[in-house]
This record gives sequence, structure tokens and C-alpha cells, in this order.
Amino acid sequence: MRKITRIFFISFCLSALAMGAEELQFEEELEGKYEFEKNPETFDQKIRLGNGRIAVVYLARDRKSKNLVAVRQVDKESNQSFVEQERKALGWHKACDHPHILKILDIYESQQFLSAVMPRMGMDLFDYILNHQPSGLPEPVARKYFVSLLSGLAYLHAKGIIHHDIKPENILLPCEVVEGYPDWKKIQITDLGFACRPEGGIVPASEIPRSGTSGYMAPEIVVGFSYTNRVDVYALGCVFYVILVGSFPFHYGVKGQWTDSEEKFFAISFREGQYCPSISLSPAAHQILRRIFRPLSQASERPTCEDLWTEFPWTKELSKESEE
Ligand SMILES: Nc1ncnc2c1ncn2[C@@H]1O[C@H](COP(=O)(O)OP(=O)(O)OP(=O)(O)O)[C@@H](O)[C@H]1O
Ligand SMILES: [Mg+2]
Repeated sequence: MRKITRIFFISFCLSALAMGAEELQFEEELEGKYEFEKNPETFDQKIRLGNGRIAVVYLARDRKSKNLVAVRQVDKESNQSFVEQERKALGWHKACDHPHILKILDIYESQQFLSAVMPRMGMDLFDYILNHQPSGLPEPVARKYFVSLLSGLAYLHAKGIIHHDIKPENILLPCEVVEGYPDWKKIQITDLGFACRPEGGIVPASEIPRSGTSGYMAPEIVVGFSYTNRVDVYALGCVFYVILVGSFPFHYGVKGQWTDSEEKFFAISFREGQYCPSISLSPAAHQILRRIFRPLSQASERPTCEDLWTEFPWTKELSKESEE
């Protein structure tokens, strides 16, 4: 068995200095506390809850409480260039304490994996819309989801963190259902893997970090301008549209095909502010989307989370309920 070092990320540097590197067996450390659930047919395969570009998420159980948990593992060798960023982002994530930011219960690091233990959630919002609500959610329900996410995002922004990858795949729903829909009070933002905490709140054009996901990317990132946490508000607007309508807010070329240069096309579309409100939504929903989808030339006028509370009082009212 390989020797590994367990890292407590909140105070990683300080604790490493104070305590000295704590050499422990990784498998003993993680699996002493948590047991991976195995496929009942093969017995030896871990049960996979999901995977993304970087991580694979497995089902496990807390040996003591018997609660099911999710273990997100990043293979360090195949993601060498991301490991430092992942460590940093997990540290920020673990320090978060908000009803709409998924909790990180434990972090482990071995020679092979960077592992984060989290509460086990139901499906992600992408799978839910795709498989259960292909034409979107009723607006009163979508509004509640939007507000829960807005309050989680406002919390991150108050801590100086830009999430940088807000999209339905990074939003997890609870298994609990209320009035026919996953409980909006338990919806969670996760995956801070692309997060950054820029000095003065501005990411300078010269330091644009590795990007998020193109369909949710604010135009100022696409064209390589400096930007602020308003890029998350833009992405949240896209999520709101997706859950209201079941499709993306912008048309990406003929018959949904990418044009020859995806990035160039995005830049041109957004410069012209091609938000196509040819769908039936309430005036309030249109208004919020129009405010968020400003063309590139007005990116600095896009509302912040705080602005949205002030401009749309229903957001604040619902938010109080969602944080109860
Ligand atoms: N706590 C959880 N409970 C249940 N499923 C989860 C949990 N965490 C993640 N998942 C599933 O695993 C998927 C991938 O997780 P995650 O987003 O953390 O990985 P990633 O590699 O960072 O993704 P990305 O491609 O967005 O960078 C999620 O989209 C979701 O479907
Ligand atoms: Mg993800």
C-alpha cells in the first residue's frame, strides 16, 4: 500500500507547518471512515454517481453514521496541470457554510487521488431537465430555484470567490420532493474546481484562468477582456433560462451547429446582444433575463447578485424562505 499525506485544506499551510507532514495510509484513512459501495452484481466495482471533465464521483457510506455520501476523486496523474488549482478550490469550498453550497465533509490526498467527501445528492439539474422536464419548469418553481442559487452565489461573491463554472451539471438536487419537484430549499451549488479569488475582485485580461463551459460563458471572458463576478450572474441567467424553457438562450448558428469558429461566433453574437425572447414568459422573467443578458459593450452594467435583490424584491422575499 502506498504512503500518502492527509491534508486538511482549510488551514493547509499553517497546519502542515505546525504539525509536520502526517504520513498515513490513504486507503486506511479514507476507507477507515468511509466505505465505497460496490456494485451488487460484480462486488468489486465502485458505484459511480457521475463524472465530469476532471473528477469521478462514487457512492460511499460513512461507517459510523451509516449515511450515504459521495466521494469526488480527481486522478492526479491524468490531471497534472489542474491539481494545484483543485487543491486551492477545495480549500475555499470546504470553508463555505451556506444552505445552497454543497458541504465538503472531508478531504484526502494520496499519491494517486485528490478526494473530497460530500453529502450524497440526487441527480444534477442538467439530467433532471433533460430527462424529466424537457420543456422547462413552471415559472413559479423555476423562480424558486433561481433564488436559491442566487443566494448561494451571493454568498460566494461576498467571500470574494468567483465560481466560474455555474451550469446545470454543477447544481445538485435533493432526493426530497415537495409538491412534485425536488425541494428548492435543498438545491446546492457544487464543483468550485474553476473558482478564483482575484485581488480587488477583477480578473485582469492578462491572467484569465482556464475557462469554464462555453454555453454559459459571459461574452467578456470569450473575447478575453478583464472581468468580475458578474460572469457568474451571466451564467446564472443562462441556467434560469434553461430551467424555464429547456433550451439555451442563444442560437448557436444554423440548425444548432457550431459555426467555423465557436469562440468568434460567441463574441459576435454577444456583441450584438442576441437574446431571443420569442418564448412565452412572464414580463418579470423577461425583464430579469434582459437585465442579465447585456451585450458585451454593457457587460459592466450587468447586475450583481446584490443588484438583483434590490431590483426584483420577490428574489429577496423568496431567499429568506430558502435559507430557513
Ligand atoms: N454529491 C454528489 N451527489 C450525487 N452526485 C454528484 C455529487 N457530486 C457530483 N455528482 C455528479 O457527478 C458529476 C461530476 O461532478 P463534478 O462536477 O464535481 O466533476 P467535474 O469533473 O469537476 O465536472 P466538470 O466537467 O463540471 O468540471 C456532477 O455533474 C453530478 O452529476
Ligand atoms: Mg462539474
